[in-house]
Amino acid sequence: MNEKELVLKAIDIKKNSYSPYSHFSVGAALLCEDGDIFTGVNVENVSFGLTVCAERTAFFKAISEGKRKFTAIAIAGGDSFLPPCGACRQVMAEFCDKDFKVIFVKNENEYIIKTLEEILPFSFSEVDMK
Ligand code: THU
Repeated sequence: MNEKELVLKAIDIKKNSYSPYSHFSVGAALLCEDGDIFTGVNVENVSFGLTVCAERTAFFKAISEGKRKFTAIAIAGGDSFLPPCGACRQVMAEFCDKDFKVIFVKNENEYIIKTLEEILPFSFSEVDMK
């Protein structure tokens, strides 16, 4: 995996963020197992609860194009390392293995790589419904 490429794409796509309420632009770049990359931005709404994070935008774009297997996601926003919110972590858990890599981007040279297991331990999954 070329982490740097994902990081750069997450930073670049922030320019398309629709965030007139928070003024906080977030970009995400999701790497599929087959090498394709889907980007996403946060899309806000005047009815605040309808806002969708950049990570989920990227996932839903990829899922709707038929992708089901993912390797990594880079997330960029603000001036420090940006961790994904809880809702986005649960969406990751729906589609990704425990070793899925989540890259918190500070800038193009500084980023932290965590696994999904590290950032969402004891997650609720299908096996818990058996
Ligand atoms: N946001 C994301 O897009 N991803 C995150 O990981 C954290 C938060 C967005 C949602 C909202 O548009 C803005 O950032 C402020 O919360």
